Amino acid sequence: MRKKLLRFAVNEGRKNLIEKTKPLYHEIRGRWNELYFKNNNPLVLEIGAGRGEYTVGLAREFKDKNFIAVDLKGDRLWHGSGIATEENLTNAAFLRARIELIENLFAENEVSEIWVTFPGPRPKKTQANRRLTNQKFLNIYKGLIKPGGIVHLKTDSNFVFNYTLETLDERKDIQNLEFTTDLYNSKFLPDHHEIQTRFEKMFMAKGEKIKYLRFKFNK
Ligand SMILES: C[S@@+](CC[C@H](N)C(=O)[O-])C[C@H]1O[C@@H](n2cnc3c(N)ncnc32)[C@H](O)[C@@H]1O
Repeated sequence: MRKKLLRFAVNEGRKNLIEKTKPLYHEIRGRWNELYFKNNNPLVLEIGAGRGEYTVGLAREFKDKNFIAVDLKGDRLWHGSGIATEENLTNAAFLRARIELIENLFAENEVSEIWVTFPGPRPKKTQANRRLTNQKFLNIYKGLIKPGGIVHLKTDSNFVFNYTLETLDERKDIQNLEFTTDLYNSKFLPDHHEIQTRFEKMFMAKGEKIKYLRFKFNK
């Protein structure tokens, strides 16, 4: 608990960590490039980012894009935010927020790409409204993303993977859907730039195969 509070205190002073207590949080909707990144590069979101491994890894690789890790847990974002601060990754930001409220923080069509990395499975029926790839969240992503923008999902979970494919199948607005049940033996691997998240490492150590899918919204 003490460790968590210390991290929260550090987060308060971190420029790259945006949270409710900071004025920028309340002004940033539709103005990420103007107020934070100070350029016109495309915005890429990592949803349920935890420590933000994709945000940090992709920010190192693609200096011409801006990356934002979103998670409700400040003590997890503290990790990625610290690495980005040390490495002076000015194209990475960390946003402490609930995905349910993300439309208050990004304008329609403000985002170019979305990564959903290892979302918790929430297999019980009573948890269905918290699954980060249910219809409610897909509708939110559709609103935020520019026409032609790619949504990626990476998971160890057969439940998450199959549930997401079924959910996408119910919709009439999905195009260019591609997937693999074994990322590490697939043509998609180079697109991941050898980035592995904390949860990915844990599940791979247990022998789980990593599944991956990507698609676009027809909008
Ligand atoms: C299983 S962890 C995966 C973390 C990281 N992406 C990884 O692969 O190591 C799922 C993360 O999603 C976050 N999360 C779940 N539901 C959320 C929500 N509604 N809004 C924001 N973050 C959420 C949790 O706080 C947690 O850090």
